[in-house]
Amino acid sequence: MPRTILGALLCFRLCIVTASGQAASEPKPQLAEEVFKNVQVLKGISVNEFMGTMGFFAASLSLNCTDCHISDSSGDWGPYAADTPLKKTARRMIVMVNDLNKNSFGGRRAVTCYSCHRGTIFPKVIPNLAEQYGSPPADDPNEIEIIGKAPATVSAEQILDKYIQALGGAHLSSFVVKGTYQGYDTDLEAVPLEVFAKAPGQRTTVVHMRPGNSTTTYDGRAGWIAAPDKPVALLALAGEDLDGVRLEAALSFPTGIRQALGQWRAGFPKAAIGNREVQIIQGTAAGGSRVKLFFDQQSGLLLRVLRYTDTAVGIIPAQTDYSDYREVAGVKMPFHWVVTWTNGQSTVEVSEVQPNVAMDASKFSRPAPALPPKPAAR
Ligand code: HEC
Ligand code: HEC
Repeated sequence: MPRTILGALLCFRLCIVTASGQAASEPKPQLAEEVFKNVQVLKGISVNEFMGTMGFFAASLSLNCTDCHISDSSGDWGPYAADTPLKKTARRMIVMVNDLNKNSFGGRRAVTCYSCHRGTIFPKVIPNLAEQYGSPPADDPNEIEIIGKAPATVSAEQILDKYIQALGGAHLSSFVVKGTYQGYDTDLEAVPLEVFAKAPGQRTTVVHMRPGNSTTTYDGRAGWIAAPDKPVALLALAGEDLDGVRLEAALSFPTGIRQALGQWRAGFPKAAIGNREVQIIQGTAAGGSRVKLFFDQQSGLLLRVLRYTDTAVGIIPAQTDYSDYREVAGVKMPFHWVVTWTNGQSTVEVSEVQPNVAMDASKFSRPAPALPPKPAAR
């Protein structure tokens, strides 16, 4: 198990809510310094972006959250405020990187923690001969980008058409999914999951975690996360954070994909995910995040969504891999998906889909703040 994933596991065990989230009555994200006690550098960003920044650190240095923070199992976020030698160094490094980019790269973010660290605490300084003369590692499909300005042989429009056709083209107005969720935040235990979705783009996911329900909602305009493992009991989403839930809601229905993104681009070089050849296209979401979509060359179905989110120190990737497509009321739907991001990984296994069910509007309204975990639960 990679250390960063272990870190997420540890983190989630410690997680508890603060009462501050309960005051949020409208989708206005709280700032990091309003929620946390000892923020000296990373000010003026949302709690979600702050946590994304922590994920960037963990991923860049392959560290656990508790390598930089005091290890504590009392189940609250308080100990994270204490300074440790590594945390102090990390603060110094943020300032160093900002200066470097300002003074040497005209303010462009040319250098990040990952540029030097590459998944280790001590960056290497001597070139490696084995690396120089050995065969290069296989291409990571996520890293493939459009090169040059040659017109694409297949347009984004054509790839989307093929996808929508592959899904089956029947009309689906709503559905309810029942299944299981398994992740580092459940200690890899499979717990019940429900998804409620209504066309054109409303979606609520409820994961029945042991400490309490974790609810993610997009009502068509606004989005929230109410989860017992977040530092605020009800997190209102904005900007790029909102893009994630909006996109997931739009992708629930065949035709939603066209409206979900703009500025479509095609013309990526050939790529493969495992042994499947894929066609890649890219779009930009309303909140500004760049999204790559990977379609199976043969079946036309969507295999991967890769979304980039900006943080205070660099861009973090998050990917969802879809598989096991089955037909439900004339439309193909994935029955298995895996979400991978810098703070963890989770797997959803669908057991049942009820198509075209009447659904109350309240299913998509702002969720109640998550309950703090019961001491008896662990
Ligand atoms: C490389 C070191 C490093 C790693 C790894 C790291 N952090 Fe941090 N963390 C920091 C620094 C530095 C700050 C203070 C930032 C500032 O002062 O602006 C901080 C602050 C925090 C705070 C705010 C605490 C408070 O009340 O002031 C929280 C919460 C937090 N980190 C959570 C996490 C989580 C969760 C992870 C794992 C995903 C993590 N951190 C990984 C360096 C790290
Ligand atoms: C220009 C290269 C470079 C960049 C960019 C960089 N670092 Fe470092 N970092 C280093 C070097 C070199 C060391 C080791 C210093 C030494 O040998 O004492 C180090 C050490 C550290 C350490 C202490 C490790 C230890 O065990 O003492 C932490 C924590 C750290 N960096 C965090 C970060 C974070 C967080 C970022 C991004 C904000 C970052 N670094 C960006 C070069 C870099």
